[in-house]
Amino acid sequence: MHSGLQLRSDYAHSPEGLSELTKLIRDVFGVDISPLNTLGHDPSVVAFGWWRGGELVANVSLYQRQLWLSGEQVRAYGVQSAAVRPELRGQGLFRDLMHRALDYADARVSLVTLATGTPNLYAPFGFRSVRESVFSGILPLEQRPSKSRRLSLTSKADVTLLLDLFARRVPTSLLAAACDHPALFMLKAVECPEIELIHLFDLDAVVAVKGHDQAPVTLLDVVAPSIPSLEDIAAALGYDGARIDVHLTPDRLGWAPEENVPVDTGCMVRGPYPPEGRPLMLSSMKV
Ligand SMILES: CC(C)(COP(=O)(O)OP(=O)(O)OC[C@H]1O[C@@H](n2cnc3c(N)ncnc32)[C@H](O)[C@@H]1OP(=O)(O)O)[C@@H](O)C(=O)NCCC(=O)NCCS
Repeated sequence: MHSGLQLRSDYAHSPEGLSELTKLIRDVFGVDISPLNTLGHDPSVVAFGWWRGGELVANVSLYQRQLWLSGEQVRAYGVQSAAVRPELRGQGLFRDLMHRALDYADARVSLVTLATGTPNLYAPFGFRSVRESVFSGILPLEQRPSKSRRLSLTSKADVTLLLDLFARRVPTSLLAAACDHPALFMLKAVECPEIELIHLFDLDAVVAVKGHDQAPVTLLDVVAPSIPSLEDIAAALGYDGARIDVHLTPDRLGWAPEENVPVDTGCMVRGPYPPEGRPLMLSSMKV
């Protein structure tokens, strides 16, 4: 069917495979995944690809997801890095790899997720869009001395601290939350320098926030062995504004948002998704 191309699924963790995946993702999406060579790749990734000799020309990857949905822990797969080199598009390579990836996932889990700007591409494979929401409201203002420090992913000690918290983390929500491998979280932080990873000492937590010293602050994720209240998080940050936007399902934050605003995050699912239809948001700390 594809003359001159070889099908492979053995390369997601070899130096040669990672180098070709890095090139393909950089060329097609303009995203550099090479920081993960130091920070750590997700060992659960399975890649399906068409190769032209030593060159990876089409790829679809899966990674394992640990989700909490309607109070239950759910194992799922996420689709990532779907890319075909421009000169080989329109020949069915993506369709072929999607079917192979979904056959693999279907043999192991009942739920597959992805995030995309082109839902029409995935609807024919049985994916449907799930509306997510941003939760907004006012915080009681309480001035306390800030007990926090911004982490740097170029510091080995800070990466160790973050990975230790990831190993001990609990879900931010029991209605809808993800506790995935830290690779995509860290890559998102590297890709978006406006996102700050802040260690809150007394709360034994790292939060991912945008604009932490100006209103409204945006809370993107909480990595902690016990989820602190939103009020305690804001106080530990030294945040003295009142408004906050939370990009997480807020049921464990001890806070009642004033409004939830539906937003298009490109989230799609295939299979049972129990909290569907309720206001929710999985962390967007992933590329
Ligand atoms: C999107 C992409 C992976 C498609 O690869 P491809 O090998 O050309 O796709 P295929 O030839 O297998 O086409 C499969 C189907 O998808 C459709 N399709 C292709 N690109 C599409 C797009 N951008 N939007 C909607 N449908 C699309 C094709 O028309 C085809 O439909 P058909 O089955 O009814 O004939 C490729 O164009 C690409 O790498 N684009 C840039 C990266 C990207 O957008 N990746 C997806 C990000 S979530």
